[in-house]
Amino acid sequence: MIIIKSERELKLMRKAGAIVAGAHEAVRRSIRPGITTEELDRIAEEYIRAHDAIPAFKGYNGYPASICTSINEQVIHGIPGKRELKEGDIISIDIGAFYMGYCGDSAKTHPVGKVSPEAVELINVTKQSFYEGIKFARAGYRLSDISHAIQSYIESRGFSVVKSFVGHGIGQRMHEDPQIPNFGAPGKGPRLRPGMTLAIEPMVNQGTDQVVLMPDGWTVLTADRSLSAHYEHTIAITEDEPVILTLKE
Ligand code: MF3
Ligand code: CO
Repeated sequence: MIIIKSERELKLMRKAGAIVAGAHEAVRRSIRPGITTEELDRIAEEYIRAHDAIPAFKGYNGYPASICTSINEQVIHGIPGKRELKEGDIISIDIGAFYMGYCGDSAKTHPVGKVSPEAVELINVTKQSFYEGIKFARAGYRLSDISHAIQSYIESRGFSVVKSFVGHGIGQRMHEDPQIPNFGAPGKGPRLRPGMTLAIEPMVNQGTDQVVLMPDGWTVLTADRSLSAHYEHTIAITEDEPVILTLKE
């Protein structure tokens, strides 16, 4: 069942989203060679708590940190720790927060210093695939119209889209119905309606779409160890253009 949010609820989700966006900005400003991923985790957690919000990931199914930091061939769910970033890495940062009981969820991939042209292209295509997808995030389209647009764009640029993890509805819980694959035929699934709130999150690989799980039980890697990037926003369906909720106020 897809939960339709009221205007009041959308205002709270917008606020949660603004806090997530602020935490992203604080982390991005700190990304440089030599910083550890656990320092980035602390920066995000402090920002979230200073804004009267709660990190959404900490303790979720036992996840041990406030954010996910996934470097290079790590696709998602990289656990912050003592590893230092180095020039030429790319790092995907995923952040979620609850404010007044409502959740915002957003991810982006950043270069560390100067990176290869291929890595820049991967990051740009991943971000643009989200924007291609939300061209169809409007009342009247069907959910898989978004999925199809994302996949078509990514594959047209020579990259592959991860199939084993998907986007999701979001609200008073981080994961609500529906599941939102980043691939598939158009014209299927529920019809989009105003008040639906969705976390759309393409994960894009340079090589094969296949992924493997590390022994830590969380970190997802590309099977061929090629680079991977992630881009996610929480959005609301309206009568008109979709609203991106995870932006700064
Ligand atoms: N954006 C991710 C998601 O939608 C982050 C979850 S990490 C977890 O599932 F640790 F909380 F699982
Ligand atoms: Co998500």
